[in-house]
Amino acid sequence: MKDLLRTEHLSRADVELLLSTAAEFAENPLRSNTALANKTVAIYMTKPSTRTRLSSETAVAHLGGTPIFIRGDELQLGRGETIEDTAKIISGYCSALIIRTFAQSDVDQLGAYSTIPVINALTDVDHPTQLLADWLTIRENFGTDISGRKFVYMGDGNNMSHAWLIMGAIMGAHVVAATPSGKWAPDPVVVAIAKNIAANSGGKVEVTNDPEAAAKDASVLYADVWMSMGDSESDRAEKMRALSPYAITENLMKMSSKDSLFMHCLPAHRGEEVEASVIDGPRSVIWREAYHRRTTIQSILYHLVRGDLKGYTH
Ligand code: CP
Ligand code: NVA
Repeated sequence: MKDLLRTEHLSRADVELLLSTAAEFAENPLRSNTALANKTVAIYMTKPSTRTRLSSETAVAHLGGTPIFIRGDELQLGRGETIEDTAKIISGYCSALIIRTFAQSDVDQLGAYSTIPVINALTDVDHPTQLLADWLTIRENFGTDISGRKFVYMGDGNNMSHAWLIMGAIMGAHVVAATPSGKWAPDPVVVAIAKNIAANSGGKVEVTNDPEAAAKDASVLYADVWMSMGDSESDRAEKMRALSPYAITENLMKMSSKDSLFMHCLPAHRGEEVEASVIDGPRSVIWREAYHRRTTIQSILYHLVRGDLKGYTH
């Protein structure tokens, strides 16, 4: 596996390897501080980022390399140079490319035309690096025996909901997306892929529009923003109304299991998708989760550059 383009390309063994190395990088960030010595990693983003950008740059530095951050408007790509030509040029200078953008097909093409590893740092339909940080946090709290546990995403059927279902399926977990039906439901094609993975992994994938049934006895309640980067402002009022039953409140948390956690990829909007007392309360693990963005991206870079990941075609 040359690239990390989509969550579904990871096998269970790949995830286990990435998580165990990330746990080591959490203890000792400089454990492999020559892995990228004299090498550069391009980080190209056409959408804003706080965590992914800073954790990627830090991860490259901790591996002994130099990150080169490129804003969306800074490449000739924006002036009509092709993805194919851009991919070949970056491959000549850098040892990996981390990209955040809108269309998944752009990321797929960059992967196809590059000779270096390409890492998806969020598209409109997926966010694989986030899910590794999420699962490392889940592991730290619940260990490896997750039988009988339910992991619930609440809100918009967006990139995060997709990655949540797919990664949960890979891990053999019981995963749920509680979203409105219709316009803001997860893509049925992605749900079908997740169900197919779960059929082989022993996991269970559920999509529901009942937030209370989903929250009942859940081990994790997970939130994301209701307006994603690139969403149309003209949808805002209608979307807020449709999503309001899915806000993670104290009341929903009370329905979850006694040892449940609140998780959020961040950035958060207190008072929209989550009550302030929940995200800032004792069940919330958001800071550890955000910390693991660095440890897991460092692990992804380390293993992709070495060619250690096998990948999986579902
Ligand atoms: N969770 C996440 O991807 O955050 P950023 O948008 O700040 O990178
Ligand atoms: N769904 C959000 C995730 C941010 C990390 C977005 O795409 O903006």
